[in-house]
Amino acid sequence: MSTVGIDAIRFYTPAFAIRLPDLARARGVDPDKYTIGLGQEVMSIMPPDEDIVTMAAHAALPLITDETKEKIHLLLFATESGVDNSKAAGLWVHNLLHLHPSCRVVELKQACYSATCALQLAHSYLHHHPNEKVLLIASDNARYGLHTAGEPTQGCGAVAMILSASPKLLALEEHQGVVADHVMDFWRPTYRTEAVVDGKYSTKVYLNTLQSCWKSYEQASGRRFEDHARFCYHIPFTRMAEKAHERLSKAASIPFNQEQIEHELIYSRQIGNAYTASLYIGLASLLELDALDLSDKRIGFFSYGSGCVGEFFSGVVPEGYREHLGLSFHKKILDRRATLTIPEYEEFFTYTLKEDGSAQTTPNVSAGPFRLTGVSNHERLYG
Ligand code: HMG
Repeated sequence: MSTVGIDAIRFYTPAFAIRLPDLARARGVDPDKYTIGLGQEVMSIMPPDEDIVTMAAHAALPLITDETKEKIHLLLFATESGVDNSKAAGLWVHNLLHLHPSCRVVELKQACYSATCALQLAHSYLHHHPNEKVLLIASDNARYGLHTAGEPTQGCGAVAMILSASPKLLALEEHQGVVADHVMDFWRPTYRTEAVVDGKYSTKVYLNTLQSCWKSYEQASGRRFEDHARFCYHIPFTRMAEKAHERLSKAASIPFNQEQIEHELIYSRQIGNAYTASLYIGLASLLELDALDLSDKRIGFFSYGSGCVGEFFSGVVPEGYREHLGLSFHKKILDRRATLTIPEYEEFFTYTLKEDGSAQTTPNVSAGPFRLTGVSNHERLYG
């Protein structure tokens, strides 16, 4: 069997952010609660002229060359912030990036988990189509509402990954531990733009699901905790990933070692939760910022999507991976962001598109190259 995995990865987040201490002061909360208790420093904010489509196109653009365009015949778009109940968001991206006309396009949903399901589906697909590449995009806007407990754990961003049978960044391994269960810890009915969440319960379900997934992964693979050099967890806020690693270390009777997760958390501390994209922003952070040479090292991953599905899986980093990272692109994306005041953030947050389908032009606040320019006759317009 050929090796299959991640060949390239780029993430994108919009050009606006707020500082968590500013939000804390505006909400009458001790800033340490957000920066230490939740482990978040900055939160990306979605402007009125961006959405999951523009973020996705921005993330994928640097990966699209004439060669990849020719080889991508499957585009998997993972999101829980869908902009249409019928049409896959990936079709707008397919158009914006001028992808191959015979490329299959589909959207996948299961809270923050669906990008991982897409990764495993692409794994099987590439075994049968080893000369092709798959474009996997995860793009989300995390919204809980102003003045809610979840507000400091919002954020937004997209990740684009090229998957192939000769991966340069991560070779996926056989054996996963998967758990699905019907729980109401977090959900978003189709008539709402903000999630409904039982916050404390959701953190408990996350940790219990981790433990069950690990157990089933351990049994299936025969691998032990010590066989993994680093761990990447889904990051709704960075303190949650630390708690996950504390839980797993304890279960394995191994002393907690922050170094095993620290570099996964750095970008997310500056972005917030990007739902489906969070785990893979964490992977980019680890590969780009960890001083340890990760060549031939195994990474353990825990993907969690409320509702819930969890999966523990693993991958090995190929030699030479550092030549294929996007460090300078990502630094530019993070450093270019303008800091909004809290009233400015609230204005962006409450901006809505009309539901009667009449013509509307969005304010031109983002630099592009892709913008949601407006709506006309119920059709989203991109430029
Ligand atoms: P809360 O109830 O306001 O916060 O909301 P808290 O009272 O639990 O405090 C948070 C932490 O800050 C606590 O630490 C406090 O002790 C600490 P802990 O005890 O948990 O270790 N703290 C302080 N630390 C330093 N100085 C201080 C201070 N004050 C308090 N002065 C909650 C927290 C996470 C519940 C809320 O933000 C929320 O509901 N968030 C959204 C839900 C969420 O993120 N859940 C995570 C698991 S589910 C998941 O990951 C899936 C998800 O991504 C969705 C999907 O799958 O699509 C969410």
